[in-house]
Amino acid sequence: MDKQSRSKLGINTRLAHGGYDPMDYHGFVNPPVVHASTVLFPDAQTMATGNQPYTYATHGTPTTDALCRAIDELEGSAGTLLVPSGLLAVTLPLLAFLSPGDHLLMVDSCYGNTHYFCNTTLKRLGVEVEYYDPLIGADIEELIRPNTKVVFTESPGSNTFEMQDIPAIAEKAHAAGAVVMMDNTWATPIHFKALDFGVDVSIHAVTKYPSGHADVLMGTVSANEKHFKTLEQTYTALGLCVSGDDAYQVLRGLRSMGLRMERHAESALAIAEWLENQDGVVEVLHPALPSHAGHAIYKRDFTGGGGVFSIVIEGGKAQAHAFLNALEIFGLGYSWGGFASLAVHVRLADRQITGKNYAGAVIRLQIGLEDKEDLIADIAKGLAAAKAA
Ligand SMILES: Cc1ncc(COP(=O)(O)O)c(C=O)c1O
Repeated sequence: MDKQSRSKLGINTRLAHGGYDPMDYHGFVNPPVVHASTVLFPDAQTMATGNQPYTYATHGTPTTDALCRAIDELEGSAGTLLVPSGLLAVTLPLLAFLSPGDHLLMVDSCYGNTHYFCNTTLKRLGVEVEYYDPLIGADIEELIRPNTKVVFTESPGSNTFEMQDIPAIAEKAHAAGAVVMMDNTWATPIHFKALDFGVDVSIHAVTKYPSGHADVLMGTVSANEKHFKTLEQTYTALGLCVSGDDAYQVLRGLRSMGLRMERHAESALAIAEWLENQDGVVEVLHPALPSHAGHAIYKRDFTGGGGVFSIVIEGGKAQAHAFLNALEIFGLGYSWGGFASLAVHVRLADRQITGKNYAGAVIRLQIGLEDKEDLIADIAKGLAAAKAA
């Protein structure tokens, strides 16, 4: 079946078959894992022109191409690049599009290490970084300057889950000639097709849901026709690439991602609803809840959600630590999107606009694939311990 016909199929069908045609490799259902650096040429003329599908493994292999094609089909993008971490999927496009003297509008609720990169490397390179309120919407226009080259979005925001009005922001950014980037890791392309909403460069830490098993680090950067070439030039110049083994693992993860996401999202919402009625919980920060300030945008733009959200519990560090130490199923660890539940006490010190007004300690919960009744019982132990602290 060609790409065009496949784009009309249901999401799980596309996840199961995207990126690779078994008949291209003797009928094997999965693509081969190519371990490579050197690629041979049949003769000197072909070597001189480079006129064959593969020339050197930093420029792709059949395994990495299968994953890139699968992501392109999901994103509707002109091209996808694979990088060794989700953080690199954020930093690569910023490096590709920003030069000394340029102005970057960065959403304040971005992933913490995005803040760090902006405040260190980009500042050193002479890029002016300005953080903006995630709830700004069309008023972003007032912050745009003649030298604004990039407007970077992330929705919902990391750890605090503010929803951004992406179409309104993209319209104003494009009117000023700026490139719109989005860290779209939370929703995955299943639930938010960023390029259809005006985003030019869609970024994913595929470390999370696509890999799904907490054993691979990788990022993807997908762009529309207008912007892919610029990205690819910087990617090639930096010598970025990923291993065939890792690309294979992520493609394997994609095949079951729809089902896993359903389970993550359903359990997370049920737990979030339960948490709204628990003693000691001041607030639940999950955009799928009608009580969430960004719920209308969530309903308008997203077809579903992820399994990570935050709660604000009464107290401070002592209560947060008591909560975490009482957990027996949730692991204490970073990242999310894997099969196992995780919890972390969120630090918001790098925020300039958001994150200052919470009436308690913010704890992020990644809801894994375990039975939700067990997870609820575990969280209840945490809440009891926090109350006693
Ligand atoms: C929203 C978001 N973007 C990017 C990243 C970075 O991904 P990685 O851990 O693969 O570097 C993370 C990691 O937690 C994240 O939460």
